[in-house]
Amino acid sequence: MVNEYIKANEQRFLDELFDLLRLPSISADSRYKADVRKTADVVRMRLLEAGADRVELIETKGHPIVFGQKTIDATKPTVLVYGHYDVQPPDPLDLWKSPPFEPTVRDGKIYARGSCDDKGQFYMHIKAFEILMRLKLLNCNVKFMIEGEEEVGSDNLPAFVKQYREHLKADAILISDTALISLEQPSITVGLRGLSYMEVEVTSANRDLHSGVYGGAVANPINVLCQMIAGLHDANGRITIPGFYDQVMTLSDAERQSLNAAPFDLNEYKNELGITEVTGEAGYTTLERTGIRPTLDCNGIWGGYTGEGAKTVLPSKASAKISMRLVPNQTPDQIAELFRQHFIAIAPPTVRVKVTPHHGGFPAVTPTTSKAYQAAEQAFVDVWGKKPIPTRDGGSIPIVALFKNELGLDTVLMGFGLDSDALHSPNESYGIRNFLIGIETIVRFYHHFGKT
Ligand code: BES
Ligand code: MN
Ligand code: MN
Repeated sequence: MVNEYIKANEQRFLDELFDLLRLPSISADSRYKADVRKTADVVRMRLLEAGADRVELIETKGHPIVFGQKTIDATKPTVLVYGHYDVQPPDPLDLWKSPPFEPTVRDGKIYARGSCDDKGQFYMHIKAFEILMRLKLLNCNVKFMIEGEEEVGSDNLPAFVKQYREHLKADAILISDTALISLEQPSITVGLRGLSYMEVEVTSANRDLHSGVYGGAVANPINVLCQMIAGLHDANGRITIPGFYDQVMTLSDAERQSLNAAPFDLNEYKNELGITEVTGEAGYTTLERTGIRPTLDCNGIWGGYTGEGAKTVLPSKASAKISMRLVPNQTPDQIAELFRQHFIAIAPPTVRVKVTPHHGGFPAVTPTTSKAYQAAEQAFVDVWGKKPIPTRDGGSIPIVALFKNELGLDTVLMGFGLDSDALHSPNESYGIRNFLIGIETIVRFYHHFGKT
């Protein structure tokens, strides 16, 4: 019955998703503020059409949160679905094979910004909900919280979660915003890394100088900044910030073994990325480097002349954006402070340094013993014929720790994307097959969860 419904409505499901993908809901760029709100309105309307009783846009200091619910029986358990309707900026634009906000299907994949992260994924939940309503299969209560600031750090969420505690009361959180191992081997994410994001500025002279007249005698902030950044790792790929690893939880040999038992082909990984060698902290595998170890990366760097041709200039300033991915039990504020102190300490006396923390987020580990996890596992077994493997993903979803700490709720990270979907990159995509089988698996999740 469920399958027939999906088949009969497949084209409409996709058309509706495409309408969402056409809206440039770029939360980071204030020029798109109206489009972000329009997207929230469309999500609201789709939830109502699917059968929600009440859907509202809840205002925050930033972009609104879409909150909807369907109560069938107050004595039954409640699932709270979280997702985000905002997307990353699409640049660099010239690298897109088709325009980022004109969804285009090639080889069974939908190419568009947000197709996988997270519009295509949260929309599966709205369609699964529609199916449960139309086929009268819904056997528990459902709430939806689809926010518009995930890609900029969800700064207004802590206040929202505190204020709307009652609204958010639930028995389990369900999120599709992560990746599967592959379409052949399903997985459920049980770990996410945290984040500490910093911006640094190095200043030398009080103005740009002629690089011939002053070069060699006055510090070049770009040269200095590069040296400082390079020094943040040692020869073993370890981060040199004093105290950085102090709180890091070490895993037992058995835990590491099971993590490394997941199917992973290093050659395929390298080929897909066009690299000949991987890198990272000595003594750890690639899965461990992205799953259970903290990292530090420069995300952007600028200064001086970057226009066409050559300009001989010794710039006054140079800047960089640096992110650190955290693991249990590191805390974003503490790591930000360690970074700040260290970055100032290693600056030579020839320059002045400014360090500004941006957003952060706590790491999270979710249990495999919860009723919701068991229901998700069983749903995969039913639909995929295979037990999903628990995996640790390298990305961050700050609300997972917030739900746990503020509401005491465990999350199930039932994502259907693939690492090759190019999230945050040009030509982001989401497989139509992933979208449809995701809907089917989510419907099956409710079948098992509602029984408990
Ligand atoms: N959906 C991603 C996180 C993700 C991607 C988790 C792949 C697991 C696998 C999410 O939208 C995201 O990009 N989060 C940001 C964090 C945020 C604080 C800006 C991230 O990880 O950079
Ligand atoms: Mn996401
Ligand atoms: Mn993202």
